[in-house]
Amino acid sequence: MQKKWWMESVGYQIYPKSFYDSNHDGIGDIKGIHEKLDYLNDLGVNLIWICPFYDSPMDDNGYDVRDFYKVYAEFGTLEDVKNLIHKAHQLGIKVVMDFVLNHTSDEHPWFIESKKSKDNAFRDYYIWHEGKTINDKKVEPTNWGSFFGGSCWNYDELTDSYYMKIFSNKMPDLNWKNPKVQQEMIDVGKWWLDLGIDGFRIDAVSHLDRAEFIDIKNAKDQYPLDWHKFSNLPKVHDYLKLLNKSLFKPNDVLTIGEVGGQATIEEAKKYAGFDSNELSMVFNFDHNWCNNLHEITNPKKLVTHVIDLKKTFNKWQKAFAKDGWMPLNWLNHDQPRLMSQYGDYKYPLESGKMLATALHMKRGTPFIYQGEEIGMTNYPFEDVTDFNDISSRATYIYELKKTPDDPVRALKIASLRSRDNARTAMQWSKKLYAGFSLEQPKILVNRNYKKINVTNQLNENDSLLNHYKKLIELRRFSKYSDIIIYGSYEQIDIENENLYVYKRILDNQKLLIINSFSRKKVLYDLKDIEIIDVVISNYKNQKIINQTLTLRAFESIVFDIKEKS
Ligand code: GLC
Ligand code: CA
Repeated sequence: MQKKWWMESVGYQIYPKSFYDSNHDGIGDIKGIHEKLDYLNDLGVNLIWICPFYDSPMDDNGYDVRDFYKVYAEFGTLEDVKNLIHKAHQLGIKVVMDFVLNHTSDEHPWFIESKKSKDNAFRDYYIWHEGKTINDKKVEPTNWGSFFGGSCWNYDELTDSYYMKIFSNKMPDLNWKNPKVQQEMIDVGKWWLDLGIDGFRIDAVSHLDRAEFIDIKNAKDQYPLDWHKFSNLPKVHDYLKLLNKSLFKPNDVLTIGEVGGQATIEEAKKYAGFDSNELSMVFNFDHNWCNNLHEITNPKKLVTHVIDLKKTFNKWQKAFAKDGWMPLNWLNHDQPRLMSQYGDYKYPLESGKMLATALHMKRGTPFIYQGEEIGMTNYPFEDVTDFNDISSRATYIYELKKTPDDPVRALKIASLRSRDNARTAMQWSKKLYAGFSLEQPKILVNRNYKKINVTNQLNENDSLLNHYKKLIELRRFSKYSDIIIYGSYEQIDIENENLYVYKRILDNQKLLIINSFSRKKVLYDLKDIEIIDVVISNYKNQKIINQTLTLRAFESIVFDIKEKS
């Protein structure tokens, strides 16, 4: 295996709008990230992924790009981005930006042209289709649903046709079959690389090809959402091989694809196996469905399916053990908060540290989502108008249709799943507006900022933030660095419903990682194991009697061990 810098990195994901507001106009910005680079450096991360900051009408918070060569004015200028890259590089921090290939904004000049007429030079930049006539009524070319609700087609009167959009109406899908589109996007990528960017997180990458336009049969909904109609189809790989050859490989850039669409292991390997010639790694989302969040019909407590979670982790670790590399992340800007999903509100510190250790000791490149390191939580939404996120509003409408008399239920469900949970202001201090801005923020601020914030946690030795720091330090600068980065992963006791236990092995070094997902006491047998040292833990002393370890609520320990043969 060829070692790469990004295998030895620790990443941090930034959502620019809610990270830090440097000019106090209520919205986060590029200079804000610049000002917080010292914080990130102190935390120990050396790779940042910044969500889109392109010029955009912000229908989907910047994933709807109006101009790939411009910075969204409220976030700052191109000069600010250059300065940010410069300072980051001085600190040894690499910068990865979002690359949105699947769609543009409907306000992008290409689309404005494309709409004008059927013979416009830009018509084929997008996916246009005639409607069907059923019982004298014009309907969409297919009944396929979109991710944000409703049809995946939108009607345009001027040319009496439909364009495809698997996200919102304001996000028309690019037609990747068109070589001109391919070249345009290669040009965009080159331009940013010339500016000094070190890599790309590639948005919605699995969707670049579509199935044949045939209706979904026997559907319950008017517009059923079937991912297979536009996920992981064969041509995606041709496009990625082309991008790799003309853009990624010559510039030796890091690429991390967002592979939603329920990609299988085989698919993931096609994208990111060492010999795939496509991407460096892919984010998968399998572990995000290891609780009952998406089945909840009557909001009640979330339940973590620990065995599912372990099986999922194990499956991916095994798949990429030899011929590929993985990013490690719990959640991102599209998910509710980690603490509110997998943490425990009675034991926030213990469970927060346990979740961090469980992830950071695995093989792969860890990514922390902003605020995760201090244990930020979901937002207590009170009204549908609290939602900024287009998909949260769609969920609310969808749920309300099911129970029109019970808007409270619809709100609770939409709130539990809302992407806005992850997009509240970063909680820097106990000052007004969480120290995010001096002015009333244009985004939500969670009321718990006086308790949960960076400043407090920097001052407390025992804080979650300091636990993250320690984990990063272990990975990057300790005698365990090699084993944590390159050691193999071995899952233990997979059917145990309380504990997540695994080993890391490198030559004759061994680490044993034990994590309890339970509030109750759990026993673990250490027979035949000789403990050399405690590498990191979330309780001060370990309770070991007669080679049996008693784990307290959410206890987590990493032992440096020898095994008696
Ligand atoms: C990805 C992004 C998400 C966005 C979508 C459309 O899933 O992570 O935030 O809404 O793509 O670009
Ligand atoms: Ca600002």
